[in-house]
Amino acid sequence: MTEIVLGVSGGIASYKAAELLRLFTESGHRVRVVPTASSLHFVGAATWEALSGRPVQSGVFEHVDEVAHVRIGQSADLVLVAPATANILAKAAHGLADDLLTNTLLTARCPVIFAPAMHTEMWEHDATQANVEILRSRGHVVIEPAVGRLTGTDSGKGRLPAPAEIFAAALQVLEGRPQDLAGKHVVISAGGTREFLDPVRFIGNRSSGRQGYALAEAAVARGARVSVVAANVSLPDPAGVDLVPVVSTEDLRQQMHLAAADADAVVMAAAPADFRPAEWVDSKIKKTADGLAPDIRLVENPDILVELVKARTSKRPVIVGFAAETGDAHASVIEHARAKLARKGCDLLVVNDVSAGKVFGQDDNEAVILGADGTVDEISHGPKIQLAHVIWDAVVQRLD
Ligand code: CTP
Repeated sequence: MTEIVLGVSGGIASYKAAELLRLFTESGHRVRVVPTASSLHFVGAATWEALSGRPVQSGVFEHVDEVAHVRIGQSADLVLVAPATANILAKAAHGLADDLLTNTLLTARCPVIFAPAMHTEMWEHDATQANVEILRSRGHVVIEPAVGRLTGTDSGKGRLPAPAEIFAAALQVLEGRPQDLAGKHVVISAGGTREFLDPVRFIGNRSSGRQGYALAEAAVARGARVSVVAANVSLPDPAGVDLVPVVSTEDLRQQMHLAAADADAVVMAAAPADFRPAEWVDSKIKKTADGLAPDIRLVENPDILVELVKARTSKRPVIVGFAAETGDAHASVIEHARAKLARKGCDLLVVNDVSAGKVFGQDDNEAVILGADGTVDEISHGPKIQLAHVIWDAVVQRLD
């Protein structure tokens, strides 16, 4: 049974840590909550003691005989600070030890994750960013805050990601994933684009965004800075990513070029619409009295993957494409995919056989990863997160 230390520092978002705690205890982990004194203004010790079934203390001068300030950190399998305030990040970065949580952080030799939550100004401040850099350079995981409504009426970057997303990121770290993407910026597109005909109708596709989000979750667990450009995805935001929502292929194209400019790896897991209506009508297209359906003329969209390959001036970023293929009378799935890999010019192509509607909206996937260097990796049926890690393994090999 793993021993988790849940550090809670003083922010409004500390109420969300109660749900996080339940996710751990209900999945069989032992959790020791270590709240800071100021966090007890937001959620009291009684809540933590009742939910964890363990005693709770903030200072180092209670139960001194148990030497808690050393023992708790030493015996932990994971220390997770959620929410992490600007103050706790600063103390941890500089090795201060003035309460039980900061002592625990200094004695822990296990993985440490910080899930910051604060106002945008505080997050963006040079001091906070420098502290985050220090913590990451030591191998700690600092999850990027989510963008959204903050404590008051304002919104921006600084929200604590959803407890389920922090939990998923923590499980990945507990699995002992290597931090082989630490210091790397990876960009992932996810979902399916929509091309509007009029204000209410669009041409879309069945891509759910699940594989792209699994790639994001896996990259966060391996220490990457992760940007996700998400086209019409209705899943919860993955923890720790910079998420840019888009609608059309043109939006996706612009955002991918922006994000890819300083990227080490780019994965085009999204399904951009290949065609868009030649005209957009700014009022709803009506039925006509003669019962004739309108003719809709389509024009081809640019191929973003091909553009990203052409835009690079060195071997960076490593570029990964996806291909949803069916075999036909002319060629097998793999033959079509080899031809596509050559046409697109990317480094890796993840090939899904979509005959009979497989893959879409499922949690599982199977694939073949083709390398431009001739490699063929068959990935047997399994969860999308598992495929995501195999894709990152292939990317990491090409980054070295
Ligand atoms: N892709 C892209 N821009 C497009 C269309 C596709 O970047 N306008 C990317 C997808 O994100 C994916 C890869 O290209 O990574 C392959 O997508 P797919 O639809 O299989 O390729 P197409 O070029 O559209 O080939 P097909 O003729 O088989 O539809």
